[in-house]
Amino acid sequence: MIPDAQVDEVRARADIVEIVGEVVQLKRSGKDFKANCPFHDERTPSFYVVPAKGFYNCFGCGESGDVFSFVMKRQGLDFVEAVKYVAARSGVEIREVSRGRDEEDPHRHLYEANAFARAFFQDQLWDETGGREARDYMDARGIGKETAESCGLGFAPDGWRGLRDAAAHHGIGDEVLMEVGLLTRSERAKEPYDRFRNRLVFPIESLGGKVLGFGGRVLGVGPEGSPKYVNSPESPIYHKGRVWYGLHNAKNHIRREGVALVVEGYMDAVSMAAAGIQNVVAPLGTALTQEQAELLRRYAKRVLLLFDSDPAGIKATFRAGDVFLEAGLHPSVVTFPSGEDPDTIVQKEGAAGLRHYLEQAVDVLDRKLHILEEKDYFSSIERTRSAVDRLLPTIRATRDLALRDIYVSKVAEKTGVRRETLEDELRRQMHAAPSRAPRRDGRRPTTTAPAVPRMGAQRKLLLLMVQDRDWVLRAAERVGPGDFFDSAFRDIFEALVEDPELTHAPEGMAPESVQILESLLSDPEELSQAQRVFDESLSRMRIALVDSRLEELDAKMRHAQSDDEKLALLREKADLGKERRDLGPDWSATVKKTLGAQRLKREQDI
Ligand code: UTP
Ligand code: MN
Repeated sequence: MIPDAQVDEVRARADIVEIVGEVVQLKRSGKDFKANCPFHDERTPSFYVVPAKGFYNCFGCGESGDVFSFVMKRQGLDFVEAVKYVAARSGVEIREVSRGRDEEDPHRHLYEANAFARAFFQDQLWDETGGREARDYMDARGIGKETAESCGLGFAPDGWRGLRDAAAHHGIGDEVLMEVGLLTRSERAKEPYDRFRNRLVFPIESLGGKVLGFGGRVLGVGPEGSPKYVNSPESPIYHKGRVWYGLHNAKNHIRREGVALVVEGYMDAVSMAAAGIQNVVAPLGTALTQEQAELLRRYAKRVLLLFDSDPAGIKATFRAGDVFLEAGLHPSVVTFPSGEDPDTIVQKEGAAGLRHYLEQAVDVLDRKLHILEEKDYFSSIERTRSAVDRLLPTIRATRDLALRDIYVSKVAEKTGVRRETLEDELRRQMHAAPSRAPRRDGRRPTTTAPAVPRMGAQRKLLLLMVQDRDWVLRAAERVGPGDFFDSAFRDIFEALVEDPELTHAPEGMAPESVQILESLLSDPEELSQAQRVFDESLSRMRIALVDSRLEELDAKMRHAQSDDEKLALLREKADLGKERRDLGPDWSATVKKTLGAQRLKREQDI
């Protein structure tokens, strides 16, 4: 914690013009400075820095604040990091004091256990004899000492209790190690044992560089039947859907280059770092979430997807593409020759070789069009019709309105379907289900019996996916994890997308999610009218999400400081309100009156 007096001192000493000026081209305007706003796209400057008052304000998008909020927002730092960043540029020395007992981080012991493990694994890797085989393996894959150190790589020795014993020696007990998944149990073994054995270990770090978990790769092919990677399970401090592997190291590079390179896993990220390409992150073996996309958006609007070019990789690419589009990012696709991935390209052709492929990146919708073309989708009316159906979900996902407009034009041109017709289709798809909107009196229309009863659209959708695995793919094309309101349902959705055939909860799933998944797997209800259940569930879930965002906006409005801020919130609200009206009639009249009732109703509905 930094004492308030020091925060004030840093604020007073900081030159906001200089700090903003590092990333924004400021022009003098009287006593103030102006620029094109770094927080939204514009051609004429409406972003002002007022040095006398130490704040900035954009009349276009409503962003405003002091030097700390600028740094937080622009570089994605938390408050303490931002204060330190500004302090370092303002000649103020920060003396951080440790927090008082009662506000101590309740997870501190977990972070400490992970920090200990990272140091232990690193010691093992650099141990003269013990680490030799692992170092040879790294050498063979082109990872030098410098990269290994900057990525914090380590080696988990063979044996069942190397880490466990070393930790015990330092007063770190089994319980804590179990909680972060460094130890594991089996039915056969009486005692818990090291999860990571005889593996090269990759620490997974938070934005601030704290260790959240680990991934471990076998050296070479490993013994028959052992998985290539072993990963930490979810824990109180590790949520795979909220973290990017490598982001701690990559974030400043991403911001500087204006683009994030997204690869499939640890090795690609590390091997690109070794080649000097550092704006690289990887998801953690699970399907990409809205939260991850939004995290990345703090650093750059553009994303390049560098997945395998095999059918599974292409599928993952488009799924990720839609999630990014939904978060307002602009994804493009890099295509490698078959059998190659970023790691093999870097090994064979170096950074220059890889950059050559990066330059050939193609917008995600263009890529989809190419693939449909390759598969001969535009050869007949019938097939063109189904191509349109495959393209619509991507357009619908696109949050950036300008980009969406370009997509509609492209698809219109390619398929010969008129723009207006596509727009109609897009709207129709969004409320394909009979309207379930509340009436003015807040009750639902009762004329048609809903196929999805009040008790839960999210659950119904998942039940459908569990009962007939074909619906997993169809659902994954239409929604992402971020569309699920509750984390348990989100977990289950991700698990199903990851493994559509799953018959029991995957390792590491949160207990409440496991419980719901099991109830779904054993649910005897037989769903008829699958298509209707599907459409209706999707539209109900969307309604719930939009409602909740509207509520959030209203809360923000109540606390808005300036007219500009209010204006920006109003604009956002207008956009959402439009979507909400498209989802069902009578909404606009109800929105204000029933907000209080909404929360209650939503809890029953989803
Ligand atoms: P790959 O098998 O392509 O791994 O899986 P890789 O990282 O390229 O490994 P190398 O090049 O053979 O060393 C891609 C990603 O999927 C996850 C990891 O995150 C991996 O980096 N994965 C893969 C697992 O979590 N477990 C596995 O058993 C396999
Ligand atoms: Mn690989």
